[in-house]
Amino acid sequence: MKKEVKEKRILLKYCSNINAKAAEERIITPENIDYFRTKYPGREFHLYQWIPFDAPNTSINTYMEKGGYSALKKALSMKPEEIISEVKDSGLIGRGGAAFPTGLKWEFAFKQTEKGKYFVCNADEGEPGTFKDKVLLDQDPHKVIEGMIIGAYAIGSSKGYIYIRGEYQDSIKIIEKALEEARASNILGSNILGSSFSFDIEVKKGAGAYIVGEETALFRSIEGRRAVPGVKPPFPTVSGLYRKPTVINNVETLANIPHIILNGAKWFRSLGVEGSFGTKLFSISGSVKNPGVYEVELGKYTLGDLIYGLADGIEGNRKLKAVLPGGASTCFLTKDKLDVRVDYRSLRKAGSSLGTGAILVFDETVSIPETVRDFFDFYQEESCGNCVPCRIGTKRISEMLHWITEPVDLDQLKYLSPGGPKKMAYIEKLRDIAMTMKDAAKCGLGQAAPDPLLSSIEFFKNEYDALIEKRQKEYEYFIEKAKILSKA
Ligand SMILES: Cc1cc2nc3c(=O)[nH]c(=O)nc-3n(C[C@H](O)[C@H](O)[C@H](O)COP(=O)(O)O)c2cc1C
Ligand code: SF4
Repeated sequence: MKKEVKEKRILLKYCSNINAKAAEERIITPENIDYFRTKYPGREFHLYQWIPFDAPNTSINTYMEKGGYSALKKALSMKPEEIISEVKDSGLIGRGGAAFPTGLKWEFAFKQTEKGKYFVCNADEGEPGTFKDKVLLDQDPHKVIEGMIIGAYAIGSSKGYIYIRGEYQDSIKIIEKALEEARASNILGSNILGSSFSFDIEVKKGAGAYIVGEETALFRSIEGRRAVPGVKPPFPTVSGLYRKPTVINNVETLANIPHIILNGAKWFRSLGVEGSFGTKLFSISGSVKNPGVYEVELGKYTLGDLIYGLADGIEGNRKLKAVLPGGASTCFLTKDKLDVRVDYRSLRKAGSSLGTGAILVFDETVSIPETVRDFFDFYQEESCGNCVPCRIGTKRISEMLHWITEPVDLDQLKYLSPGGPKKMAYIEKLRDIAMTMKDAAKCGLGQAAPDPLLSSIEFFKNEYDALIEKRQKEYEYFIEKAKILSKA
């Protein structure tokens, strides 16, 4: 049993790597943009600068030749308040999953009078199916660094950290080289570009725990403590890393900043739709022909456009069954939701959320209970164990999902209450545990993990019922056999 779980987790990670690499070929480029335009008559495709469209080039010289660090120069000539109000006016929402307005976060930290503030870039990217930050780190590291320096200047921080997942070995090397180049060009360090502002960035490598992506756990990890989430409030902007006011932003959030400073809030708001301005990177994976990272304007495309247009539809021309539109911690949407626009509000209205922008696609051959079981294998291993609802809840749900998705054997009989799975009110029990987790878990992991389970019970209850029926028959067979043996 344990071995099987491990293999499934490796598959998830393997899948991310494959897609990150494949993404390089599938991003909309000047060369292939006509192909996408033909595919979408009447829809305009734009090329933005979030993802570089030439061959990946990470050197500072090339970055600067293309105007890199001119946003920083402009920012250093502005007052911190002006930068913050530009970012606030842009309506930029954090891209790390929690969807918090970036300008507001910066303003909270700016207003803190305490000295020794920190600015942290969250590059942990542990959510299954999410691999968009890796593309930015690998192909445009200076853009992320530039966004970070501007943010640090705005809030008044002189020390920053990039916390990057340890498995991203290549990205770590790329980022470290980019930081060296920035130091050598007086873009990092003392008196940046001749100004009175000094700031430097240190790289911290994660050891492979999903929970470290949660901001307060991440701070503890940097501090050398066990990475368990803290209680909020106080929020990081008041008391974060080393209990100092701290801003933490996702890689993609930061990559937006130089564009906003150079082109202005009004320009940014001309992209996307009300409540969801700008473009967004989507990592599309699962049963699609062309998995990869795609950048589109928020709210201008539907889920169907992304799945059937950009990702080329379902492999083997099978039918679509379900979609998780924002990663493994969001609610399932069914195939009748393909017309839903991909933006924060529309996805919420449809009953799910945009999450990290990881669109997981499931075709008709995929078993939803087995998929949810695999998610819970992941969650129960990644739960930090700090609070009971999540520590016990993830474990119990994982066990229960194994029981109904695998044939009953004699060992399992002792776990099944008299009468078998049918008498156990299986679905109600799963729902109860999931709701308790949602209500009582301490952090986002335990609060959001039940979402795929609860929504799958709502939309695919027939699959659960069929499995329970099957297990009931096996159970009754064993009970009968045991009776016969005891009489013999
Ligand atoms: C279990 C868990 C894992 C998370 N992992 C990440 C992550 O890998 N990267 C990330 O940017 N945010 C992650 N977050 C969200 C962060 O706590 C935080 O909200 C985010 O870094 C803030 O950046 P943003 O405002 O730019 O989105 C995670 C949250 C939870 C609860
Ligand atoms: S919800 Fe889970 S991951 Fe979060 S603190 Fe509780 S046990 Fe840890």
